[in-house]
Amino acid sequence: MSPLRIDILTLFPEMFGPLLGTSIPKRAAQKGLVSYHLTNLRDFATDNHKSVDDRPFGGGPGMVMMCQPMFDAVEAIERLDPRPPMRILLSPQGKVFDQRLAEELATKDRLLFIAGHYEGFDQRIIDGLSPIEVSIGDYVLSGGELAAMVIIDSIVRLLPGALGAEEGAADESFADVLLEYPQYTRPREFRGMSVPDILLSGNHQAIADWRIEQRKKRTQERRPDLWQAHQREVTP
Ligand code: 6GU
Repeated sequence: MSPLRIDILTLFPEMFGPLLGTSIPKRAAQKGLVSYHLTNLRDFATDNHKSVDDRPFGGGPGMVMMCQPMFDAVEAIERLDPRPPMRILLSPQGKVFDQRLAEELATKDRLLFIAGHYEGFDQRIIDGLSPIEVSIGDYVLSGGELAAMVIIDSIVRLLPGALGAEEGAADESFADVLLEYPQYTRPREFRGMSVPDILLSGNHQAIADWRIEQRKKRTQERRPDLWQAHQREVTP
């Protein structure tokens, strides 16, 4: 299969180096599962000041991302490859990202992430380029870069072959709806705290049952919203 192509349009391409050059995202690129292509929006500014933002019509605080550099950049990026990308614009106004969307995006062959800064985007960028708008949660970041990185990390680890056998890929049958069970490693006792006996029992069925029970208990206690969704899925 041809590798996933990920384009990223940003004013701060240097922010992505540490993510893309480390751990699973780096290894996935080395394995040929994905390629990353960074574009600096500033390169598409046309005036002497290299402007990419301007003051909002109607007044108000902050600056707004301008149409022209954004349209020119998106069109130039898209000419670099014949496959039209799914355009993903990072915005607190977007649909909240979740594992289901990660799984959907991991099936695409090309993704273009559009990260902005300042108060927001000229609405005509959204109306004219028709991206999907995605948020990573209900809090405010200074820009879309960290959100793009969160999303890229979650997608790349889903690509077939991205995780080593050791990292345990999809034994996660309710990966998106139940929290994980508690984990332990050596030693068996640390500062008076012991590993639950069942994990040392060698009874694989009993261990699997205990883990499921722990997942349910944790989810009920900590995430009643996820528990409700899980209940709806298993008892339609
Ligand atoms: Cl996608 N962008 C910004 N600026 N803040 C956010 C966000 C995105 N998601 C959550 N907060």
